[in-house]
Amino acid sequence: MNIYRPSLAVIEKINQETRDTRTFTLRFLDDDIREKYKFNPGQFNMISIFGVGEAPFSITSDPDAKGIFEHTIRMVGSVTNAIFKLREGDIVGVRGPFGKGWPLDEAKGKDLLIVAGGIGIAPLRPVIYYTIKHRDEFNKVEVLYGARTPGDLLYVDEYDQWKQAKNFRLLLTVDAVPKGVKWDHRVGVVTKLFEDMETKPDNSIVLVCGPEIMMKFAVKGLLERGFSKRQIYLSMERRMKCGVGKCGHCQIGSKYVCKDGPVFSYDEVEPLPDKIV
Ligand SMILES: Cc1cc2nc3c(=O)[nH]c(=O)nc-3n(C[C@H](O)[C@H](O)[C@H](O)COP(=O)(O)OP(=O)(O)OC[C@H]3O[C@@H](n4cnc5c(N)ncnc54)[C@H](O)[C@@H]3O)c2cc1C
Ligand code: FES
Repeated sequence: MNIYRPSLAVIEKINQETRDTRTFTLRFLDDDIREKYKFNPGQFNMISIFGVGEAPFSITSDPDAKGIFEHTIRMVGSVTNAIFKLREGDIVGVRGPFGKGWPLDEAKGKDLLIVAGGIGIAPLRPVIYYTIKHRDEFNKVEVLYGARTPGDLLYVDEYDQWKQAKNFRLLLTVDAVPKGVKWDHRVGVVTKLFEDMETKPDNSIVLVCGPEIMMKFAVKGLLERGFSKRQIYLSMERRMKCGVGKCGHCQIGSKYVCKDGPVFSYDEVEPLPDKIV
């Protein structure tokens, strides 16, 4: 198998999440590939737009769903602009799944704290689906999620369903509330929610994803509250080309984000040259 050759997938559905972010539901054209395709929460695909380029995107759908998978994409540059011009029925190239995902095996039997900022909730949504479906494998699940404004929150239609799960808490905050918008939750950065959270360091695992500045303050706050470096996991973003540990584009010190990550324990990330905290 040639790892650089993308498989073709059709866009089944496009959902406008916010003003600059859409969720794309994809389905492989080839029956065999579609049948065999499996991913772990936290892994990513390289998505290519022919004639434009290729970029990595986290897989954001339910890992148990058969036949389809989803990507939530924010329009920021050339590849994402080209993706936003596509319509339902159009074809993209897909390589993956790649990388190491979230440590769900390690989290089994423990409390799970999820801390997400902005589009950082995308690689954590499969974890939410998984923990809701396999509720008895985990203790309490608590999600702390922050965005710039209420209009920037992703997956809002799903919150009621998430909150109905046993022993599941969702806490929301936004940086600012535009005039006239109703908002019953916190205002402030996502670390403000640490004041309301119930998860304690004993027997818990923390999964963090968001802009690096947010992850920096989240890790600082968690360490101050007694969580250890080994309990905290982060999903890192670096520019990528091959996605499979060959080209060195995504290298930070001795680690390849594409192959050794994108999920790392804080323990692993702290000594790297691009120190985020
Ligand atoms: C593992 C992983 C998972 C990801 N998951 C998602 C996801 O789920 N959803 C999502 O929307 N995005 C995700 N990303 C980010 C996405 O891959 C990038 O935003 C990608 O660059 C977009 O491609 P583009 O061609 O549209 O943007 P580009 O044209 O590459 O530009 C993107 C931004 O990067 C800047 N830039 C351009 N070149 C460089 C350079 N050489 N060095 C530094 N900055 C540069 C540009 O100024 C612009 O602000 C993920 C990235 C990784 C590594
Ligand atoms: S993207 Fe090529 S080594 Fe990671």
